[in-house]
Amino acid sequence: MPDAGPGPGPVPEHVAIIMDGNGRWAQRRGLPRAAGHRAGAESIRDVIKACRAWGIRYLTLYTFSTENWKRPRDEVSALMDLLVEYLDRELPELQREGVQVRAIGRWRDLPPRQRAKVEAAVEATRSNDRLTVAFALNYGGRQAIVDASRALAEEVAAGRLRPQDIDEEAMRRHLDTAGMPYPDLLIRPSGELRISNFLLWEVAYTEFWFARVLWPDFRRENLREAIEDFRKRRRTFGALPEQSG
Ligand code: FPP
Repeated sequence: MPDAGPGPGPVPEHVAIIMDGNGRWAQRRGLPRAAGHRAGAESIRDVIKACRAWGIRYLTLYTFSTENWKRPRDEVSALMDLLVEYLDRELPELQREGVQVRAIGRWRDLPPRQRAKVEAAVEATRSNDRLTVAFALNYGGRQAIVDASRALAEEVAAGRLRPQDIDEEAMRRHLDTAGMPYPDLLIRPSGELRISNFLLWEVAYTEFWFARVLWPDFRRENLREAIEDFRKRRRTFGALPEQSG
């Protein structure tokens, strides 16, 4: 089947997605919320395939936020089980497709089983370079900035860094997104118009795309639509638009 890609033209190098709407998707079907998360994992599968096929180099997925621990215990535990199941099921294919798995956030504080699975997936795919997929796990944008600031302060205290050398680049190197370009395009489905503590530092000049579709219904066609819209934007990064003609 031909891949209905976005057609010739540039694609964003880095796409970030807030995978929202799983609960509502399930509720509308009279299913438990966990069923929505499970269906959401299928959307991840399709989007990763599309990113790989269309030449997108980085995909960051908001998978579990620092605030998500406040959800009912059975929902949290369903999400944790799903993470293990997802990695067990998808890793062989991710490997075959040259996908590098990364984790951002305080993922080392996940329960031991989840932490070990994530660590193993990161390790096993370390040398893949076709597409990097960063799973934001136990992630909070403010916490990421706090962690980077603390790491900088420790370097200063140890005499390895002078306070006057703390600049944007130093901060960037200490964020857990170090080594990845900042997102060009941030997608939030489900009709919500918020950033919800995602990649606060990194989205300073990111283009946003919102849609009403719920994440479990999100497929490559929606990604294509977002990319086509992105291509129409003029990105000036705060400068004046270039004069044409
Ligand atoms: C937000 O929807 C989504 C989440 C909190 C979890 C995101 C997780 C997945 C898409 C699937 C899990 C995949 C892996 C790899 C573990 P919501 O529940 O807030 O939806 P609502 O706003 O409709 O209630």
